[in-house]
Amino acid sequence: MDKVLLILVIFATFFLSLALAEDQQQCVKQDACHCQINEFSRIDISKLTDTHLEDTLLSARLTYYFFGCSDTKKDGSFFGLNSTNISYIGSLFLFNQTNKNVTVLGTTKNMQFEFIKDNNNYELVYKVKDNITAYLTLTCDHTNPSYIKIIDQNSNRLVLSSPHACILKEPHTTSTGSVLVIIFVVGCMVYFIGGALMLYFLRGARGIELVPNIEFWRELPGLIRDGTIFLFSGCRPTYVSTAETYDRI
Ligand SMILES: *[C@@H]1O[C@H](CO)[C@@H](O)[C@H](O)[C@H]1NC(C)=O
Ligand SMILES: *[C@@H]1O[C@H](CO)[C@@H](O)[C@H](O)[C@H]1NC(C)=O
Ligand SMILES: *[C@@H]1O[C@H](CO)[C@@H](O)[C@H](O)[C@H]1NC(C)=O
Ligand SMILES: *[C@@H]1O[C@H](CO)[C@@H](O)[C@H](O)[C@H]1NC(C)=O
Ligand SMILES: *[C@@H]1O[C@H](CO)[C@@H](O)[C@H](O)[C@H]1NC(C)=O
Repeated sequence: MDKVLLILVIFATFFLSLALAEDQQQCVKQDACHCQINEFSRIDISKLTDTHLEDTLLSARLTYYFFGCSDTKKDGSFFGLNSTNISYIGSLFLFNQTNKNVTVLGTTKNMQFEFIKDNNNYELVYKVKDNITAYLTLTCDHTNPSYIKIIDQNSNRLVLSSPHACILKEPHTTSTGSVLVIIFVVGCMVYFIGGALMLYFLRGARGIELVPNIEFWRELPGLIRDGTIFLFSGCRPTYVSTAETYDRI
């Protein structure tokens, strides 16, 4: 019985630490519009914009056009050019007003979701092989409409602010881990409160004696020590021991 309890404690600790460790990590691309951080959180940029977002840097005469998570085909007339025979296909374009040059900075195929540890947020990164062509830092803003803003035109770094750039969290109802933790917590409450009530009314216990199996809880530090030794000795059963065998060694 005591050993079973000890194992329960170890399992509960394990699942609790799993639950705490799942906070922030890479967002794995499902398709151009969706990425999954873990079982419960994801990013969905499919509703970013009906058409496109743009921002112009007047001093450098540059305009960025972002079409969200779908590739769009545009000819020169979109950028105010006469030529309609050349088409550009992508999700992020750069138009240079000075030389009337259109550059496709990225298509959805070479777009990735990346987690930036330093400032704890996510970026849309356009990469050709390992060469990054553009970055869009995702900024969650529930109150304003979506917009993009140029941060640095030399590295093609922009900010994308939108109510659709947020991490979507789902309630933790289906996880086996949390179910086990809840069962454990409820079990503990029943055990301690029920046990204390029984001891109080049936045995007339008072004070520290109200703790059920008080002897076990007094021995617990020793049991944990044994358990640790057992684990570190490579789980060889010869070392599995009650406190007595440990003392003999
Ligand atoms: C575009 O067309 C207009 C007339 O429609 C013409 O005046 C202009 O020079 C043309 N620009 C170029 C770059 O061909
Ligand atoms: C566009 O098409 C016209 C004929 O349709 C051609 O004369 C012109 O050279 C083309 N322009 C480019 C940039 O290919
Ligand atoms: C835009 O065109 C001008 C003139 O060709 C050039 O000097 C400048 O570097 C270009 N800017 C970018 C970002 O390509
Ligand atoms: C337009 O941009 C591309 C790549 O950015 C470059 O290779 C090309 O030479 C540019 N064209 C002009 C006319 O500047
Ligand atoms: C990537 O960048 C390296 C230099 O940093 C260059 O040699 C290589 O050609 C680039 N690759 C592509 C696909 O642009």
